[in-house]
Amino acid sequence: MNVLVTGGAGFIGANYVLRRLRTSDDRVTVVDALTYAGNLESLKAVEENPALSFHRADITDSDAMEKIFEETKPDAVVHFAAESHVDRSILGPRVFTTTNVLGTQVLLDCSKKHGVQRFVMVSTDEVYGSLGKTGLFSETSPLKPSSPYSASKAAADLVALSYHHTFGMDVVVTRCSNNYGPLQFPEKLIPLMIINALEDKPLPVYGDGMQIRDWIHVEDHCAAIDAVFAKGMAGEVYNIGSQNERPNIEIVKRILAHLGKPETLIRHVEDRLGHDRRYAIDPTKTEGALGWVPEKKFEDALPATIDWYLANRTWWERVRSGAYREYFEAQYAQRLAD
Ligand code: NAD
Ligand code: TYD
Repeated sequence: MNVLVTGGAGFIGANYVLRRLRTSDDRVTVVDALTYAGNLESLKAVEENPALSFHRADITDSDAMEKIFEETKPDAVVHFAAESHVDRSILGPRVFTTTNVLGTQVLLDCSKKHGVQRFVMVSTDEVYGSLGKTGLFSETSPLKPSSPYSASKAAADLVALSYHHTFGMDVVVTRCSNNYGPLQFPEKLIPLMIINALEDKPLPVYGDGMQIRDWIHVEDHCAAIDAVFAKGMAGEVYNIGSQNERPNIEIVKRILAHLGKPETLIRHVEDRLGHDRRYAIDPTKTEGALGWVPEKKFEDALPATIDWYLANRTWWERVRSGAYREYFEAQYAQRLAD
């Protein structure tokens, strides 16, 4: 099978590509624009793998997408590519609407035209908005996104479902909670705090730090996506989460403790605008229907993640210095010109 993976140079996409190449005989076609969040160095371990091909292209560019679909004839699409950071969506919402909404629609049109057999839309639990102290998001919870990021993901999620309803396309939607693990861009909470702590820099905690996120290891998320891919019902939505709610401040303190750094590094800073207070996923449907269960335990997997950043200093130092952006030119520009 030929699987086209958008956003395969990003955090979850790269973990997914590595997993797919490890666990299947599929051909994997990565389409990624290599925005600031795209890092081909994350795919270094598989760059010589003949089953992998890479196309640098923008998913909003319908001519470029048409050409790629025509050339590669994918059987299935797993769609990760997105602008993904809430804080950036507050500073500049426009690219979130274009990439996340328009880009998804372009991919759906190409998939429809080229007879793609399965389109996996990687959405997010943030489409449900914020919870009070109790309750969980189920697949039937109303969509009530709060940030320009989550609103654009909700729009994309619904456009994808509309292609199933209207055109009979085989679309499945996943809504996962916050991911952590190797290869996450260090603007997100966990890698940012690890790196700042390592360098004895202040750890900026928004507001009181009592906002709750429901953390899942990226490998559990990728396994769930494969379960949805293989066994999900067309037109259905699947929540993904590992019942692991934590206040942000607890995460920050665990990171400091693991690294042997003092809590005096914590700085409570001005809260994020419109900050969602609590997310919590009910994964019962996905577990029951697909037989998927998360394997990682936070108590072990968070320290292992911290240790990954310790052991892969070059990876994140090159991200921070911007050197990772030269990698594409060095590795691929000539090959693609040939
Ligand atoms: P990321 O920001 O690390 O990676 C996004 C990737 O998409 C990058 O490689 C980037 O270059 C690429 N991209 C961005 N704009 C593009 C465009 N116009 N054309 C082609 N490629 C483009 O994001 P992530 O954290 O890996 O998230 C991947 C997906 O999973 C997103 O759709 C996100 O909404 C969803 N998701 C993320 C989380 C999370 O905790 N990170 C949780 C649930 C769902
Ligand atoms: P983030 O990793 O941006 O994910 P999301 O906003 O999509 O859930 O943030 C996770 C939580 O951590 C969120 O409640 C915001 C908070 N946060 C901080 O307190 N300080 C920071 O510097 C960052 C990046 C996030």
